[in-house]
Amino acid sequence: MSHVQPLEKGIILSIENLSISFGGIKAVDNLSFQIKEKEIFGLIGPNGAGKTTAFNCITQFYKPNHGSIRFLSKKDVTVELNEHAVHEIIGLGLVRTFQNVELIRELSILDNVLVGAHIDYKTGLFGAMVKTRKAKKEEESLRLEAMKILQFLGIADKAMWPVGGQPYGILKKVELARTLMCAPRLIILDEPAAGLNDVETLGLADVIRTIRNEYNCAVLLVEHDMRLVMDVCDTICAINFGKFLAKGSPKEIKLNKDVQVAYLGTQEDQV
Ligand SMILES: Nc1ncnc2c1ncn2[C@@H]1O[C@H](COP(=O)(O)OP(=O)(O)O)[C@@H](O)[C@H]1O
Ligand SMILES: [Mg+2]
Repeated sequence: MSHVQPLEKGIILSIENLSISFGGIKAVDNLSFQIKEKEIFGLIGPNGAGKTTAFNCITQFYKPNHGSIRFLSKKDVTVELNEHAVHEIIGLGLVRTFQNVELIRELSILDNVLVGAHIDYKTGLFGAMVKTRKAKKEEESLRLEAMKILQFLGIADKAMWPVGGQPYGILKKVELARTLMCAPRLIILDEPAAGLNDVETLGLADVIRTIRNEYNCAVLLVEHDMRLVMDVCDTICAINFGKFLAKGSPKEIKLNKDVQVAYLGTQEDQV
């Protein structure tokens, strides 16, 4: 029996009283929220509000000072993420993208997507080196899976192109394709609209919705771009100075006075 309190039915991630400080600054201050299965959940706040830090705590890149982060793993077991090392998180069913796209420029789009599959590579390094029949078969099925995902994202025709020199909209899709190779339960996207133009941002909203529908996973979107957040999220949590500010539907958040004040002077026209 696990000592971790099981999550309520329908909840995939539950953050309770999360705090982390850097020197004297409380980057995340007693923050709590829950994400439901298949929900597109937005975490918003002005620059420096603590969004990326919260995110880094969830993925265990930072170890929080206080609080609990429970997650419903791929095996349908509630786990306490704080008890796991950063490299174990993907295997539990939680993947992230980075605020700056991190791809290997020299490799093709397809190979960049295959890099995301390494955790499920059962044959191991030795098998891969001598290319046993089993390894070859496994590689082939991974390729097929990767091509299916590229098809789904509408970039299968570019599979063999090198990543270097591709426009940002394509790079974002390659990054998303790579996360899908891990068959995630929850994808965390850090500012996916950064660097995209208006058309690409609209396209991204569509892609995020389709991922949720087709791949049955929840999405936690950490985003500065209000249009994307309002367009795509089911639920939004607003934070400021690391603290919880408000939670609700996009419409409720848009009308919330505290949220409007937090954004005054920076983004008032966009809220
Ligand atoms: N590694 C770090 N060391 C020191 N301070 C940090 C570190 N990461 C974030 N901070 C501070 O924590 C606060 C929240 O930052 P961040 O989470 O990046 O905000 P956001 O992503 O909402 O823009 C900021 O004051 C920032 O300077
Ligand atoms: Mg950030």
